[in-house]
Amino acid sequence: MRVLSGCLLAALGVAANAAQAPATFPAQQRSPGAPAVIERGKTLYTSFCRACHGADLRGGDLGGPNLLRSQLVLNDQAGEAIGPVVRAGRVPAGGGTAMPPQPGMTEDDLKAVAEYLHAVIYTAQPQGAPPAGPRVELNLLVGDAREGERYFKVECASCHSPAAGDLSGIGTRLKDIEQLQNSWVAGRRLGAGAPSSNAVQRPARVSVKFAGGETLNGTLLRIDDFVLSLRTDAGEYRSFTRRSSIPRIESIKVDDPAAQHRVLWTRLTDRTMHDVTAYLATLK
Ligand code: HEC
Ligand code: HEC
Repeated sequence: MRVLSGCLLAALGVAANAAQAPATFPAQQRSPGAPAVIERGKTLYTSFCRACHGADLRGGDLGGPNLLRSQLVLNDQAGEAIGPVVRAGRVPAGGGTAMPPQPGMTEDDLKAVAEYLHAVIYTAQPQGAPPAGPRVELNLLVGDAREGERYFKVECASCHSPAAGDLSGIGTRLKDIEQLQNSWVAGRRLGAGAPSSNAVQRPARVSVKFAGGETLNGTLLRIDDFVLSLRTDAGEYRSFTRRSSIPRIESIKVDDPAAQHRVLWTRLTDRTMHDVTAYLATLK
């Protein structure tokens, strides 16, 4: 058994007393990878996954499932199963927040994220409990508000107005800093005035054109490389195998209000994320 270095344990948010033997996890638990790779994976996870899957992988505010218990994650060896999900994204069949695709992530990024997930699982207790040790309290208000404002003017002001517009008073409306950060990163309205803390503001719409001319319009439920499912405007659930549906699918058009925010995700760093959050918190 390998002994985890103190530095790695700190990176994983695990207290010294967790240097106990890791719990015996059903078959799939494996030794963690190189600390530097895990550290990189942790940074990527924090930027791109934590809002939805939670700081401890057990699911987060934005509705991502528990990854400690995911068979897909447990069976993954080095990113070969996790990578395609991250690249393609996921739209949950029952509706709710979709997992945005990350086509911009490199093979190395995907491997690093996978290594990080495996490293957390390595130190996890049975039953999907979080790693041992005191609960990690995150201080998210660590950015530079002025840098955040500068970033906002370049990247956000084309669509949002901080003073008179939709974001005025967001720092008052969302006093919880984690909620504030989750809201702007995901591009979803949270808190008072939101339809529900887990609802998507405006669901993605899809228009499918079939060979022969028929067109189906509806709310997108799920799309990946293989399957497309939607709820038609008449309320009917329909699901198709993309490559072998009869009649053949000619084109699929997705109109997703959060698409712009997804583009942002490929560029956000930890730093800009904290700076923008600090800036938005000043909008009282
Ligand atoms: C906006 C929210 C959101 C973000 C951000 C997000 N996910 Fe997800 N993720 C989900 C949802 C929702 C599902 C479940 C979809 C479904 O029901 O199939 C999911 C599913 C998964 C699964 C499949 C789990 C399984 O057992 O099938 C993996 C693995 C995963 N996410 C990893 C990641 C990683 C790694 C990142 C960051 C690079 C990430 N997710 C970012 C919401 C998110
Ligand atoms: C190209 C347009 C566009 C850009 C650029 C953009 N957004 Fe958004 N944003 C949207 C859309 C569309 C929504 C969803 C609004 C809705 O559903 O009502 C949204 C939603 C949001 C929300 C949630 C709305 C609320 O009132 O709580 C926040 C916060 C937000 N964006 C902040 C930002 C920040 C910060 C940036 C820059 C880093 C940014 N946005 C960049 C279009 C954009």
